[in-house]
Amino acid sequence: MKPLHSISTPINRAPLVELAHRIQGWKPFSTGNLYNCWSDSVESWQQLKVQPSQSPEIQRLTNVWAAAIPEAQFQISYYAQKPGWDLPRHSDNSHTWPTTCAINCVLTGDSPVIFDKPYRYSLAILNVTEPHSVPSSATPRLILKWAVFGPDYETCVRLLDAADLIEPVKMNPGN
Ligand SMILES: [Fe+2]
Repeated sequence: MKPLHSISTPINRAPLVELAHRIQGWKPFSTGNLYNCWSDSVESWQQLKVQPSQSPEIQRLTNVWAAAIPEAQFQISYYAQKPGWDLPRHSDNSHTWPTTCAINCVLTGDSPVIFDKPYRYSLAILNVTEPHSVPSSATPRLILKWAVFGPDYETCVRLLDAADLIEPVKMNPGN
């Protein structure tokens, strides 16, 4: 199965961008671990955690994902990648809250995500347990991410497919 599937749900981007610029709480991304790895604290990769109650549009979308994937829990954050900074190759994982996959909405910026090859998307479910990176773009890259905890990527893709939320999944190897 390919590492990313686009989601067809319409999104109202304007209030999502507006909220990211309005509320306080941006912090350099930190894994919270004690190892001296790239992601311990990164000024060029900022995170802003949000709750569905802070935005009717985030609440609406979270309800759509939750209806399709009832066993999933979601941790919702904005991420901002500064121009000129490459997000190094990594897999999303944490011993405190293991991510099984993620639903990402790209709000600004034009860089692809690179798994086995570059993929461009605006809204998609991603297998972030596979190594991936994001090269720098000329403009700030802003995403809204629902980190999923629960069913694995393939299960979530099949559940979204069953709810008619993604392009039909082809079962041939390599797709
Ligand atoms: Fe990641």
